[in-house]
Amino acid sequence: MKRIVSGIKPSGTLTLGNYIGAIRQFVQLQQTLSDTEFFLFVADMHAITVEQDPAQLKKHIREIAAMYLAAGLDQDKTVLFIQSEIQEHVELGYLLQSLTYMGELERMTQYKDKAKKQETGITSALFTYPVLMAADIILYDADYVPVGEDQKQHLEITRDIATRFNNRYGSFFKIPEPIIPKIGARIMDLQNPEQKMSKSSSSDKGYIALLDDPKVITKKIKSAVTDSYGKVQYDPINQPGVANLLQIYATLTNQEIDTIVDQYQTLGYKNFKEDLAVVVVDTLVPIQKKYQEILASNLLDHILDQGRTRAQEIAVKKLTKCKRLIGLGR
Ligand code: AMP
Ligand code: TRP
Repeated sequence: MKRIVSGIKPSGTLTLGNYIGAIRQFVQLQQTLSDTEFFLFVADMHAITVEQDPAQLKKHIREIAAMYLAAGLDQDKTVLFIQSEIQEHVELGYLLQSLTYMGELERMTQYKDKAKKQETGITSALFTYPVLMAADIILYDADYVPVGEDQKQHLEITRDIATRFNNRYGSFFKIPEPIIPKIGARIMDLQNPEQKMSKSSSSDKGYIALLDDPKVITKKIKSAVTDSYGKVQYDPINQPGVANLLQIYATLTNQEIDTIVDQYQTLGYKNFKEDLAVVVVDTLVPIQKKYQEILASNLLDHILDQGRTRAQEIAVKKLTKCKRLIGLGR
């Protein structure tokens, strides 16, 4: 039996980037892989590396948990839980800090980017964040970790830390492999296609929230930045806006980019955007409906309770052994 582990931070509302780069991948993997367990969690401990409003944080935690299910994950094949309900993540994170060097963390691009934007008030938790992420993964001996492109470096440091532990204390942690989709691993901002689509984007026209109203979705796609070439073709360097829209179209319809280019080459941007808006709305509306049903039932808490029990069972055993290997305690 193989194990897949992944998480999403509740640091804002979920975007189409999260859906295409992460959630949709989880669902597809679950539908195609047999004999694989899925451990998916809400990474709330990661969200507080930057300041969060407590009420908003609570709301976003539930939103992510419900969205995993609304997007089509099978509750019987998924251990769904909230990271902060399993203390072992943080404890293992601390143990792994004793094997991680400052220089390694200083090289993390996500930290460097955030630190650049936010010159004051950078917390030490933001700096050590990749170590907690390593703990999240190796605590469950994950075989595979499906993520978007921006997490690739964090997976590399996870592998380095796990290997270092194994070299020092004997083979104990499984070394995880990332799964990064070939297209759609980095969906860009609709207003600024040089930048990743993100919930913390400066303008809300730059991202599509999974819970956006269909009218809003259509408007955002129609006003997405393109270029003056005026021709639908796949050229990420010279036409990054159109290339991004093509990636969204291709992933959501399971088609090759070339097929879509052939279809729209002579039709111009207006037609292309109108059809893309329909594709996105048709994808998100059923998910939104299911999402509302899940929130209205008490199913979610039941699933999260079960998830906590199962995750804890594994986490407690692994951490106890880990501490013993290090020589801690009596
Ligand atoms: P986060 O919201 O930062 O916790 O990210 C959760 C997951 O969504 C991770 O696997 C990210 O790599 C993925 N993700 C976030 N933004 C994007 C994006 N713009 N394009 C593709 N994947 C993304
Ligand atoms: N750091 C990830 C992000 O920002 C979220 C995350 C936390 C994660 N722990 C994880 C993803 C473990 C995969 C596995 O997107």
